[in-house]
Amino acid sequence: MKNLIAPHGSDSLNPLFVNDSSQRESLISKSKDMPQLLLNSAAAANVVMLGAGYFTPLSGFMDKKNAISVSNNMLTTEGLFWPVPIVNLTKDSKNIKIGDEIALLDPNMEGNPVIAIQQVSAIENLSDDEIKVMTDKVFGTTDKSHPGVANFLSLGNTLISGDIKVLNYSYFPNEFPGTFATAPEIREMLAKAGWSKTVAFQTRNPMHRAHEELCKMALERLDADGVLIHMTLGKLKEGDIPGDIRNSAIAKMVEIYFPENTVMISGFGFDMLYAGPREALLHAVFRQNCGCSHLIVGRDHAGVGDYYGPFEAQEVFKLDVVKNSLKLEIFSADHTAFSKKLNKVIMMRDAKDHSKDDFVLLSGTKVREMLSNGEELPPEFARKEVAEILMRYYQSL
Ligand code: ADX
Repeated sequence: MKNLIAPHGSDSLNPLFVNDSSQRESLISKSKDMPQLLLNSAAAANVVMLGAGYFTPLSGFMDKKNAISVSNNMLTTEGLFWPVPIVNLTKDSKNIKIGDEIALLDPNMEGNPVIAIQQVSAIENLSDDEIKVMTDKVFGTTDKSHPGVANFLSLGNTLISGDIKVLNYSYFPNEFPGTFATAPEIREMLAKAGWSKTVAFQTRNPMHRAHEELCKMALERLDADGVLIHMTLGKLKEGDIPGDIRNSAIAKMVEIYFPENTVMISGFGFDMLYAGPREALLHAVFRQNCGCSHLIVGRDHAGVGDYYGPFEAQEVFKLDVVKNSLKLEIFSADHTAFSKKLNKVIMMRDAKDHSKDDFVLLSGTKVREMLSNGEELPPEFARKEVAEILMRYYQSL
C-alpha cells in the first residue's frame, strides 16, 4: 500500500468522535445531568469537524490566548500553524463554571440533542474591540455586509474553551448519505484505491465546465492518481445552491464526463466562512488531514463579493509560516473559461492572444437570473445534464 501524506502537525489523525457505542450511550445518559449549552451553528460545525478528524491535531475549542494568537500570527501558543480560530463563542454562559463537564446541544437538529461533551477549561470575555480585531485579521474586513463577518459578529463575546468528546455528526450523515465522510474514512478510501497523489477540489457550487476542466488539468499536470471532489455540506449564504442539488449535479457530471476511477466525491460538515485566503489555508489543512497531497486553489477561492483579490488565496500560501508548516501543496489555477477561438475550456494565462470577448463568461448572478427566467445555460458554460438539474431546481422555487 502506498504511503499517504501525514496529517497536519501529527503522525496520526485525532478524531474526537467517541467510537465505542456503549461509551457514547453512557455519555449521552450522563449528559442529562450536566449543565447544557445550546451551540450556534458555527460552533456546532467546529464540533463536527473536530469529531471527524478534519481538525487534527486540535483536541477542542481554543482559549482566548490561542484564538488571538491564531488570528494574529496563524500560530497557536504552542507554535502549531492554524489559520482560523476554532472557538465556542456564546452569549450565555451563566450556568457554566470552569472545571464543569457540559453538554453541547446541536442547534441544527430537531429538539437540540446533545452533540458533544466539553470539559470547560476557561470562560473568557472578548471585548467588542478584541472581536473586531479578530474579525479583521481573519476576514480581512469588518464590514457587516460580508456574510461571514455578519455571522461571526453575531456569535457572542464569551469564549468557552476546552477539550471535547463528540457524540454524533449532526444532520450530515442522514442528509448526505454516501457523501458525508470523516477524515479517517477518506484516508481509507484513498488507501484502498492505491492513490498517494490526490488532488482535492474544494467546492460549494455545482460544477460547471470550468470546474470540470480545472480538475482534469490538475490531474494531468500533476500526474496525480485521482481527484477528490470535496464539497461544503454545511450552511451557506442566501442564494447558494443547496447541498443535495449540488451533490446530484456533481455526481451526474462525474458519471458522464470523467474517466472511471479518477474521481471520488465526498463532503464535509462545515459552514462556509467566505473568509477567502484564511479559509483557503484551513481548506488546505483539512485536505492534508484527509490524505490529499494537493488542493486546487483557483480564482477567488472561498471568496464573496469583492472583498478579496482574485488570487489572494494563492498568494497567502507563499508566506513562510505556511510553507514551513503544510505538507500539502496547492495547484494554482488562473481564471478558467471556454475559449470561443479554441473551442475548449482553458486557463486564461495559457492564451496570451485572447481578449475578454474571446471567452464565454457568466457571473454567478447572471447564471441564477437565467435559470430563474427559464433560459438555458450555454453548453460552453455548463454541461447539459448539469444545467437540467439546476433548471429543475430553479423552476421549483
Ligand atoms: S469556493 O468558495 O468553494 O471556493 P467555488 O465552488 O466557486 O467556491 O470554487 C471552487 C474552486 O474552483 C476554488 O478553488 C475556486 O478558486 C475555483 N474556481 C471557480 N471558478 C473558477 C474559474 N472560473 N477559474 C478559476 N478557478 C475557479
